Amino acid sequence: DPPNLQMESGSGLEQVKCRARGGSSGFKVAILGAAGGIGQPLALLMKMNPLVSLLHLYDVVNTPGVTADISHMDTGAVVRGFLGQKQLEDALTGMDLVIIPAGVPRKPGMTRDDLFNINAGIVKTLSEGIAKCCPKAIVNLISNPVNSTVPIAAEILKKAGCYDPRRLLGVTMLDVVRANTFMAEVLGLDPREVDVPVVGGHAGVTILPLLSQVKPPCSLTTEEVNYLTSRIQNGGTEVVEAKAGAGSATLSMAYAAVKFADLCLRGLRGDASIVQCAFVPSQVTELPFFASKVRLGRNGVEEIYPLGPLNEYERVGLEKAKKELASSIEKGVTFARK
Ligand code: NAI
Repeated sequence: DPPNLQMESGSGLEQVKCRARGGSSGFKVAILGAAGGIGQPLALLMKMNPLVSLLHLYDVVNTPGVTADISHMDTGAVVRGFLGQKQLEDALTGMDLVIIPAGVPRKPGMTRDDLFNINAGIVKTLSEGIAKCCPKAIVNLISNPVNSTVPIAAEILKKAGCYDPRRLLGVTMLDVVRANTFMAEVLGLDPREVDVPVVGGHAGVTILPLLSQVKPPCSLTTEEVNYLTSRIQNGGTEVVEAKAGAGSATLSMAYAAVKFADLCLRGLRGDASIVQCAFVPSQVTELPFFASKVRLGRNGVEEIYPLGPLNEYERVGLEKAKKELASSIEKGVTFARK
């Protein structure tokens, strides 16, 4: 329904009944954790996305302010705010895509796994809401540790009997964005011309950039490979330390999340050849979840691509990544089955 607006004018309050708006087609998108450091710029950028017709902003604090603010932007999407767990179901009902940046971020000295105790419970609650209210929605999970929260969401959806592995995606887009940026700096190129696949997971050594598969093809020295691999794996920590206690990446993350969400929406619309890396239920390795290139379509992940040829350096990195990933996945599954 269109909103009834109350405005103060002169002597008192006047009520204006808004007319119904016609002809709006597009996707319905919810952001859970919309008032946070990532959530706010993410909401701003999604309000600018022409594929979005309805934007639901949910958080446990501050959504009225964020919603009022964003709703004044003269872009197509209609914005509605939802505050507190009692409004979670209304926030989720009818959604095509749910983006989740809810939960605490890192402070200096913390690993992503240190966030597990708080964020696991948040992701569990939100996944239960999705199972109940929009089980067919595509889910973009940002909350860390992604290597564990995606398995948690999968288990909760399985328990509810509505698990579709094609619709659950852990967002590792920021690792790709960083890899493209850092690689472009080294090569003296515009980052928009560079495409580095980043596979594995989203924490430390599980972040495995496949520098040998960079486009455009190029050869790197051993020093360049060591520098780039380390900087990509520690990009998050670089920001955490620079922010010195004020949180982790929020602006570049919102940018990456919107870039990824836009690809998901274009896939839903039926566009061809939409390919990007994401942390998904997978059979690419012996692990039940793994990040690699996937093709996005009308049902979410339509195809998962194999890793392609790896060099010796990457094969060693892959073994390290798998070891840590296995225990992070197990930790999530155990939590959700409790
Ligand atoms: P933040 O603390 O600024 O915002 C988090 C928001 O979540 C807050 O507004 C908070 O009220 C809300 N929230 C807490 N419990 C909630 C619940 N039960 N339901 C809904 N909302 C709830 O944190 P920030 O910086 O926005 O980071 C959010 C998450 O994203 C963190 O877990 C962080 O580690 C992760 N992250 C993931 C990245 C990735 O590449 N996947 C990159 C950067 C951060």
